Amino acid sequence: MDKILEKAKSTNNLTKSELVQILQNDELNEDLFTLADKIRKDNVGDEVHLRGLIEFSNICKCSCKYCGLRKDNDILERYRLTPEQIIDFAIKASKYGYKTVVLQSGEDAWFSAEKVCEIIREIKKFNLAITLSIGEKTFEEYKAYKEAGADRYLIRIETTDENLYKKMHPNMDFENRTRCLKDLKKLNYEVGSGCLVGLPNQTLNSLADDILFFKEIDADMIGIGPFIPNPNTPLSDEQGGTFKLALKVMAIVRILMPTINIPATTAMETLNPNGRIIALQSGANVVMPNVTEGDYRKKYEIYPGKICINDTPNQCRNCIESKIKSIGRTISTNYGFHIKTK
Ligand code: 5AD
Ligand code: FES
Repeated sequence: MDKILEKAKSTNNLTKSELVQILQNDELNEDLFTLADKIRKDNVGDEVHLRGLIEFSNICKCSCKYCGLRKDNDILERYRLTPEQIIDFAIKASKYGYKTVVLQSGEDAWFSAEKVCEIIREIKKFNLAITLSIGEKTFEEYKAYKEAGADRYLIRIETTDENLYKKMHPNMDFENRTRCLKDLKKLNYEVGSGCLVGLPNQTLNSLADDILFFKEIDADMIGIGPFIPNPNTPLSDEQGGTFKLALKVMAIVRILMPTINIPATTAMETLNPNGRIIALQSGANVVMPNVTEGDYRKKYEIYPGKICINDTPNQCRNCIESKIKSIGRTISTNYGFHIKTK
């Protein structure tokens, strides 16, 4: 095996220039994926944790250039589930056997801290772990959700390249995003972050920085996905990221952070029909099947070509279960919290 990969294997650490070399060089890809798969197996085992994803509102006050939910997208038909609907989908998820639900939405101010807490308290009665993915909030809000029973929080940094961050996120602030990550850690959440791969003008250097950033913040989960241009956004004519590069970034994250949870992301499957399974064999140990019902799935159109938009929660559950079993992996029956052994 290559020297850099040997070093990564034995130290779980690489310098920025070593990271760039791996990202640049495609000759070592198979070794990289095989090593990430081994490190996954040795540290988090063969179990795959399923998290039921509820996309409860596509209303958003932000204007992220790449995202279909951006407020300036007039073509998107907006929806907001009622708290009762959200709770109902969560209870059904628990009946399908999910141990975690992920509540995700645009940054929708209708869901006040009070409303979110009420939803959390109701869902907690069903012994589910709750992951929130609802954007930038104040320390006080994060604290209130935690006290109501939220366990985890996902907030991708998207890119650590501050110039690129500014261009991609009008009226947002990199500092505030990192403040959110710090507050969540302080409040003892399991913290998930991640980045987009293939944003316009994103360099391999900046992807290397992203990877080092995930280590620095001591993330519990990292989700990596390719950027897929959405026709109803200002980035409609951009190239987009590749499956291969996103997979490489993900595999490197596994090698540097052996015990964390890493989802095989939906965006990966959008670019490759077997994307999630390939990801599960290159370092990932989590899948987040959609448990939203009806045509809301279609309307939660962050990027085009999203998978499963015409499927039911039951179909997704069966589909992913058989795929996971077909590669000799098992479905976890526990909550799948991050267990730090190093
Ligand atoms: N392509 C791929 N992923 C996207 N996201 C937003 N827009 C896109 C896109 N066009 C990702 C962001 C966000 C997550 C919920 O979806 O990284 O954090
Ligand atoms: Fe939804 Fe396969 S996971 S149909």
